Amino acid sequence: MADSLLIIEDEKLLAAELARYFRKQGWEVELADSMDQARRKLVEQGFDPLVTLADMTLPDGNSLDLMETVRQQGRTGEWILLTGYGGVPESVRALRLGAYDFLEKPCNIDRLGTVLNGARRSARAQRQLRDQREAGGRRYLPEAFVGRSEAAQEVRRLLIRLAEVPFSALIITGETGTGKGLVARILHHSGSRADGPMIEVNCAALPRNLLESELFGHEAGAFTGAKGRHRGYLEQADGGTLFLDEIGEMDLDLQAKLLTAIEDRILRRLGGEKPLKVDVQVVAASNRDLERQVREGGFRSDLYHRLSVFRLDLPALRDRLDDLEDLLPPMVAEFNAAAGRHVKVVSDQIYRKMRRYEWPGNVRELRNAVERAVLLADGDVFPEHWLQLGDALSRASSGPEIDGNRLIIPLDGSMALDEMDSYIIQTALEKTGYNVTACARALGTTRETLRYRIQKYKLRTAAPEPGSQAVAQ
Ligand SMILES: Nc1ncnc2c1ncn2[C@@H]1O[C@H](COP(=O)(O)OP(=O)(O)OP(=O)(O)O)[C@@H](O)[C@H]1O
Ligand SMILES: [Mg+2]
Repeated sequence: MADSLLIIEDEKLLAAELARYFRKQGWEVELADSMDQARRKLVEQGFDPLVTLADMTLPDGNSLDLMETVRQQGRTGEWILLTGYGGVPESVRALRLGAYDFLEKPCNIDRLGTVLNGARRSARAQRQLRDQREAGGRRYLPEAFVGRSEAAQEVRRLLIRLAEVPFSALIITGETGTGKGLVARILHHSGSRADGPMIEVNCAALPRNLLESELFGHEAGAFTGAKGRHRGYLEQADGGTLFLDEIGEMDLDLQAKLLTAIEDRILRRLGGEKPLKVDVQVVAASNRDLERQVREGGFRSDLYHRLSVFRLDLPALRDRLDDLEDLLPPMVAEFNAAAGRHVKVVSDQIYRKMRRYEWPGNVRELRNAVERAVLLADGDVFPEHWLQLGDALSRASSGPEIDGNRLIIPLDGSMALDEMDSYIIQTALEKTGYNVTACARALGTTRETLRYRIQKYKLRTAAPEPGSQAVAQ
């Protein structure tokens, strides 16, 4: 789409000449010959030009007033103002309102073209930023926590409720990869502090002393090496959210200082006397069993109780396998787009394999598995070969098992009915030495039924020859 340019100019000949010139340069030009007409286009019809080139004084008013209105609506887009007599107070006002440039008439049209190109670049960059910001906000709505299971729905319900409550502290627990970071971002971006900053700190990544000065800040000379004054993360998060990841790794006396900051809403920089007021919402996360850590003296119980007034426990993926069907398609689409692949078909067999797996790394592990498979896919089918889930961790206990003359069949959706049927018959065949009569007796059925099913499932009717690949016939 061509970049749009609005020219507000009452001198008809000049307006026509400018329009012709800039259309030739690839702009999509709209004209307005009065304030009133321009206002109708911009305010009433919602026309949103990338650049506006406006004569400052028009018979029915001043363009700067219109620019001010449009700016107050939070619109982006650059303004270039043309003036006949370049009054200094007006140029000051134009600059204060954030006009891109201010030119005196008459001005050389090529020079105007150069200025316009600069304004185009600047306006495009602003729009890109705005779009990214909007997309970022949408990405972190409660719906971003995907899943149809009751457990996932409950998480979303809590997120929606919490977005309405001005809480000062909250804790998210859950195994690695269950979405603690995602949930922390949703809490910030869908709550009342969305316009404030969100600062993330990983407590495990910094040694104790550094963590303290990073969190609370320091005055110049507070300790060896403390050169200038430093604002800590708590101060930086003022008016917004401080996300303390892996809080279980935080030192005990630092925990005490943190509690004071949360309860009294004040902090002192290291080496500083003056108490500073801060207004911070603290979201903490941990994949450790904090209650146990409290019992064993590794975590302060007062801080734990303060944080767990509001608490979100994220379920492990293995406990909500139904969510695989919601999680997988958007991930496939994402990696298709990122890598120019076209995977469309995910077979039932893939889903069954995934349901049989323990997912120790939860959703993160799923993302990694999907990424690998999509990147290595040839056509439009999700390649089973590249799924490569850690075999050792498969749900051995819930897969089918033989126990003497009994079979144990899982009823957790990991085997389809036909698979159970074929597994039972194949196992009975093996146990009866591939004697169809004996096998039919063992299964309480007729030989005809059995033969039919052997064909249907293409089962083995003889022991595989040693060293050869077992081929179903
Ligand atoms: N319910 C979900 N819906 C969609 N994406 C999810 C969900 N849960 C997690 N993810 C995605 O899985 C990945 C891992 O999540 P995240 O980093 O939030 O996990 P975590 O609990 O913070 O893990 P760790 O304890 O290792 O830090 C991220 O890409 C996240 O967006
Ligand atoms: Mg995390």
